[in-house]
Amino acid sequence: MRHIAITTIITMTTITLLSGCATMSPAPSAEATLIPTSGNKASGSVTFTQQGESVMLTVKISGLTPGAHGFHIHDKGDCSAPDGTSAGGHFNPTAKPHGHPDRGDHHAGDMPALEADASGNASLSTQLRGVTLGEGANSIVGRGLIVHAAADDYTTQPTGNSGARLACGVIVKR
Ligand code: CU
Ligand code: ZN
Repeated sequence: MRHIAITTIITMTTITLLSGCATMSPAPSAEATLIPTSGNKASGSVTFTQQGESVMLTVKISGLTPGAHGFHIHDKGDCSAPDGTSAGGHFNPTAKPHGHPDRGDHHAGDMPALEADASGNASLSTQLRGVTLGEGANSIVGRGLIVHAAADDYTTQPTGNSGARLACGVIVKR
């Protein structure tokens, strides 16, 4: 009887330790604050959560003109230039052409457009494949985010002809 009781205690302790460990390591997450570039007023916030092999992104932004705005992860997490050009080109670790994330070849940083309502507010939740919040070449931690003045045509190389950079942010791990 004593042996069984000790075994039970060890088993319960092990379960407690394992479940405690699971609650202490949640899915990796990151965030970005979108700051207006010089002369613009678009601003917002973005959150990222790792879900298996993909990253879920949720963005809320205001201060846009109504309609579609190109939205991408850019190579550099550098918003120091007044026009946002310091963020470099689209994040493209696999050397692909620019395109729509749901149709054929595209940059890893290409995303669905932001659609602003009549008040200039936009929100978007989307699943990003081919990127990670972990380590390695596909990691988007420390990269830039850019919201553009115009719609992304998903065809023009390598920018989608999305026009000026209205807001810029840096993806930081939480
Ligand atoms: Cu862009
Ligand atoms: Zn692109």
